[in-house]
Amino acid sequence: MSERALVEAATKARLCARALYSNFQVGAAVLGKSGRVYTGSNVESSSYGLTLCAERLALCVALHEGEEEILEIAVVADTDGAPGPCGACRQMMYDFAPQARVTMENLRGDQRVVQVGELLPWGFGPGDLAAFNTRRSGDE
Ligand code: THU
Repeated sequence: MSERALVEAATKARLCARALYSNFQVGAAVLGKSGRVYTGSNVESSSYGLTLCAERLALCVALHEGEEEILEIAVVADTDGAPGPCGACRQMMYDFAPQARVTMENLRGDQRVVQVGELLPWGFGPGDLAAFNTRRSGDE
Protein backbone atom coordinates (compact mmCIF):
# COMPACT_ATOMS: atom_id res chain seq x y z
CA MET A 1 0.00 0.00 0.00
CA SER A 2 1.65 3.24 -1.15
CA GLU A 3 1.33 6.56 0.64
CA ARG A 4 -0.48 7.85 -2.45
CA ALA A 5 -3.09 5.07 -2.25
CA LEU A 6 -3.72 5.81 1.43
CA VAL A 7 -4.17 9.54 0.65
CA GLU A 8 -6.57 8.56 -2.14
CA ALA A 9 -8.58 6.42 0.31
CA ALA A 10 -8.78 9.41 2.68
CA THR A 11 -9.80 11.71 -0.19
CA LYS A 12 -12.61 9.33 -1.11
CA ALA A 13 -13.69 8.90 2.52
CA ARG A 14 -13.94 12.69 2.85
CA LEU A 15 -16.91 12.64 0.46
CA CYS A 16 -18.88 10.62 3.06
CA ALA A 17 -18.57 13.38 5.69
CA ARG A 18 -21.76 14.48 7.43
CA ALA A 19 -20.67 18.08 7.95
CA LEU A 20 -24.09 19.77 7.93
CA TYR A 21 -23.06 22.55 10.30
CA SER A 22 -19.48 23.43 9.46
CA ASN A 23 -19.52 22.27 5.82
CA PHE A 24 -15.88 21.39 6.46
CA GLN A 25 -15.32 17.85 5.24
CA VAL A 26 -12.43 15.72 6.46
CA GLY A 27 -11.38 12.24 5.36
CA ALA A 28 -8.98 9.87 7.05
CA ALA A 29 -7.49 6.49 6.21
CA VAL A 30 -5.53 4.17 8.47
CA LEU A 31 -3.23 1.35 7.38
CA GLY A 32 -2.88 -1.55 9.80
CA LYS A 33 -0.03 -4.05 10.07
CA SER A 34 -2.39 -6.66 8.58
CA GLY A 35 -2.39 -4.65 5.34
CA ARG A 36 -6.02 -3.63 5.73
CA VAL A 37 -7.15 -0.03 5.28
CA TYR A 38 -9.87 1.57 7.41
CA THR A 39 -11.46 4.91 6.64
CA GLY A 40 -13.49 7.56 8.38
CA SER A 41 -15.00 10.99 7.81
CA ASN A 42 -16.30 13.61 10.19
CA VAL A 43 -19.85 13.19 11.48
CA GLU A 44 -21.43 16.26 13.05
CA SER A 45 -24.26 16.32 15.59
CA SER A 46 -26.81 19.09 16.11
CA SER A 47 -25.36 19.04 19.62
CA TYR A 48 -22.04 20.27 18.25
CA GLY A 49 -19.81 18.86 20.95
CA LEU A 50 -20.76 15.29 20.03
CA THR A 51 -19.11 15.63 16.63
CA LEU A 52 -16.78 12.83 15.59
CA CYS A 53 -13.63 13.69 13.71
CA ALA A 54 -12.56 11.69 10.67
CA GLU A 55 -9.27 10.56 12.20
CA ARG A 56 -10.80 9.24 15.42
CA LEU A 57 -13.52 7.42 13.52
CA ALA A 58 -11.01 5.71 11.20
CA LEU A 59 -8.82 4.78 14.16
CA CYS A 60 -11.75 3.35 16.12
CA VAL A 61 -12.96 1.34 13.14
CA ALA A 62 -9.48 -0.18 12.83
CA LEU A 63 -9.42 -0.99 16.56
CA HIS A 64 -12.93 -2.38 16.46
CA GLU A 65 -11.98 -4.64 13.55
CA GLY A 66 -9.18 -6.07 15.67
CA GLU A 67 -6.21 -4.31 14.10
CA GLU A 68 -3.30 -4.61 16.52
CA GLU A 69 -0.85 -2.10 15.12
CA ILE A 70 -1.41 1.03 13.06
CA LEU A 71 1.42 1.83 10.66
CA GLU A 72 0.19 4.82 8.66
CA ILE A 73 -2.51 7.48 8.85
CA ALA A 74 -3.60 9.86 6.07
CA VAL A 75 -5.75 12.96 6.59
CA VAL A 76 -7.30 15.05 3.80
CA ALA A 77 -9.19 18.35 4.10
CA ASP A 78 -9.74 21.55 2.11
CA THR A 79 -7.31 23.68 4.08
CA ASP A 80 -4.86 26.34 2.81
CA GLY A 81 -1.84 24.26 3.73
CA ALA A 82 -1.59 20.66 4.92
CA PRO A 83 -4.36 19.98 7.49
CA GLY A 84 -3.15 19.52 11.06
CA PRO A 85 -5.32 17.13 13.15
CA CYS A 86 -7.16 18.55 16.18
CA GLY A 87 -5.86 17.97 19.69
CA ALA A 88 -8.30 15.17 20.51
CA CYS A 89 -7.26 13.22 17.41
CA ARG A 90 -3.59 13.74 18.22
CA GLN A 91 -4.22 12.24 21.66
CA MET A 92 -5.99 9.18 20.22
CA MET A 93 -3.14 8.69 17.73
CA TYR A 94 -0.67 8.92 20.62
CA ASP A 95 -2.68 6.31 22.56
CA PHE A 96 -3.35 3.84 19.77
CA ALA A 97 -0.87 4.52 16.97
CA PRO A 98 2.23 5.91 18.68
CA GLN A 99 4.63 4.64 15.99
CA ALA A 100 2.52 5.69 13.01
CA ARG A 101 3.51 8.08 10.27
CA VAL A 102 0.89 10.72 9.46
CA THR A 103 0.46 12.16 5.98
CA MET A 104 -1.65 15.32 5.87
CA GLU A 105 -2.69 16.68 2.52
CA ASN A 106 -5.04 19.35 1.21
CA LEU A 107 -7.02 19.18 -2.02
CA ARG A 108 -4.24 20.92 -3.97
CA GLY A 109 -1.66 18.35 -2.92
CA ASP A 110 0.13 20.47 -0.29
CA GLN A 111 1.51 17.78 1.96
CA ARG A 112 3.21 17.34 5.30
CA VAL A 113 4.44 14.03 6.71
CA VAL A 114 5.31 13.59 10.39
CA GLN A 115 5.49 10.92 13.07
CA VAL A 116 2.70 10.84 15.69
CA GLY A 117 5.23 11.80 18.39
CA GLU A 118 5.90 15.06 16.55
CA LEU A 119 2.19 15.95 16.67
CA LEU A 120 2.06 15.60 20.45
CA PRO A 121 5.45 16.27 22.03
CA TRP A 122 5.75 15.32 25.70
CA GLY A 123 2.24 13.80 25.54
CA PHE A 124 0.37 11.91 28.21
CA GLY A 125 -0.08 8.24 27.35
CA PRO A 126 -0.65 4.67 28.57
CA GLY A 127 2.93 4.49 29.87
CA ASP A 128 2.21 7.25 32.40
CA LEU A 129 -0.70 5.32 33.91
CA ALA A 130 1.27 2.06 33.92
CA ALA A 131 4.14 3.75 35.78
CA PHE A 132 1.72 5.33 38.25
CA ASN A 133 -0.02 2.02 38.96
CA THR A 134 3.29 0.21 39.42
CA ARG A 135 4.43 2.87 41.90
CA ARG A 136 1.11 2.75 43.73
CA SER A 137 1.07 -1.05 44.05
CA GLY A 138 4.59 -0.77 45.53
CA ASP A 139 3.20 1.60 48.19
CA GLU A 140 0.56 -0.84 49.39
N1 THU B 1 -12.47 17.83 12.10
C1 THU B 1 -11.97 16.58 11.82
O1 THU B 1 -12.70 15.70 11.33
N2 THU B 1 -10.67 16.35 12.09
C2 THU B 1 -9.81 17.27 12.62
O2 THU B 1 -8.68 16.92 12.94
C3 THU B 1 -10.24 18.65 12.74
C4 THU B 1 -11.70 18.88 12.72
C5 THU B 1 -13.88 18.10 11.80
C6 THU B 1 -14.74 18.22 13.03
C7 THU B 1 -15.86 19.09 12.51
O3 THU B 1 -16.83 18.25 11.91
C8 THU B 1 -15.23 19.93 11.42
O4 THU B 1 -14.00 19.30 11.09
C9 THU B 1 -14.97 21.36 11.83
O5 THU B 1 -14.30 21.43 13.03
